[in-house]
Amino acid sequence: MKKREYKNIMVTGGSGFIGSNFIHYFFEKTNSKANIINLDKLTYAGNPNNLTEIQNKYGNKRYFFYKQDICDFGGVNKIFQEHEIDCIIHFAAESHVDRSIFGPKEFIESNIMGTFNLLEVARQNWKDRQDVLFQHTSTDEVYGSLGDTGFFFEDTSYDPRSPYSASKAASDHLVSAYYHTYGLPVTISNCTNNYGAYQFPEKLIPLMIMNMMEKKDLPVYGDGKNIRDWLFVEDHCSGIWAIVTAGRYGETYNIGGENEWENIKLIHEMCKIMDERFPENAPHNKLIVYVKDRPGHDRRYAINCDKIKNELGWTQSVDFAAGLRKTVDWYLDNQEWIDNIRSGEYLKWIEKNYERR
Ligand code: NAD
Ligand code: TYD
Repeated sequence: MKKREYKNIMVTGGSGFIGSNFIHYFFEKTNSKANIINLDKLTYAGNPNNLTEIQNKYGNKRYFFYKQDICDFGGVNKIFQEHEIDCIIHFAAESHVDRSIFGPKEFIESNIMGTFNLLEVARQNWKDRQDVLFQHTSTDEVYGSLGDTGFFFEDTSYDPRSPYSASKAASDHLVSAYYHTYGLPVTISNCTNNYGAYQFPEKLIPLMIMNMMEKKDLPVYGDGKNIRDWLFVEDHCSGIWAIVTAGRYGETYNIGGENEWENIKLIHEMCKIMDERFPENAPHNKLIVYVKDRPGHDRRYAINCDKIKNELGWTQSVDFAAGLRKTVDWYLDNQEWIDNIRSGEYLKWIEKNYERR
């Protein structure tokens, strides 16, 4: 199958966890000659340090950064026209479930209104063009919560249960509506939990690593038996690139790790790795504390990703044991990155989060 090519790709949220990994992946692992135009508001989760090497190597040649809120139509439209954008890969979003519980408003604004704005910019500029693409990056959380068995498929009914997943569900529906109503070339991906370098340490894996580094409690929500399916972030990036270059317009593709873990078992695995790295502090699992459960805590996520495997030849390439070690070591080796985060709003948020329990 002939792969689609683009000249100027707008990446939204490119300074966040998955967006910055995607930009690294794009320049380091693909043969594309396209330019990347990164629009990021630089919220607490956006970090220009994630892309220092890319900026140094490609800055203002093939990589362009704009501090830009996707909710500002005029601002986005101007950049879109200046760079003659022919593909949007949309990552920008508020992404943390706990934050959405304490303050849903920004989730509605960035995730729903922001996506709507981007769709409008694309529709008004591209008109009937079919050599362009709007790729929307979403989550398996839109499908709701599973019991002990079963999987999410692309045609599973949506049943979001947190303000985060509800806002993502709304944005998915808007993207799909623009395909059906206006013929805008779109693709949608729904992915399971990612892990890897550059993830903001409010999410489970980096939070546990950082707390262990600092000999702090490891807070386990509820009984610790909630299940998540973990995928190494570079495998998510390769899945998105497969969709961008060959996915069928109007289609949804599930992407997953086929790698389910109970939270508590996963935390014990991380403790074992830290025991190897810092035997003087072993056993790290003595830091585990059970805390009040997250309200509306989804029990289990698990995805069937046969469609992207069969249609686009994508598959996971990173074994979980190796990926987890690599991730722990990345945080241990990047103290400067951690110090930079800790100097911001990070500590205030973590403290407030625990006070609320
Ligand atoms: P993240 O929170 O690390 O990064 C989000 C980025 O978006 C940040 O750089 C932030 O500054 C930017 N942003 C937020 N609001 C913005 C706005 N209004 N305008 C411009 N930029 C804005 O999130 P992530 O984990 O990298 O997730 C990226 C995308 O992937 C999200 O859409 C998320 O829903 C989706 N997703 C994430 C996971 C996961 O496990 N992290 C899994 C599946 C899907
Ligand atoms: P998280 O990384 O927030 O991702 P999501 O809620 O989007 O799946 O959480 C992953 C799982 O870990 C989830 O079941 C909640 C749980 N969890 C804890 O037990 N303790 C924590 O401190 C955090 C952040 C999450």
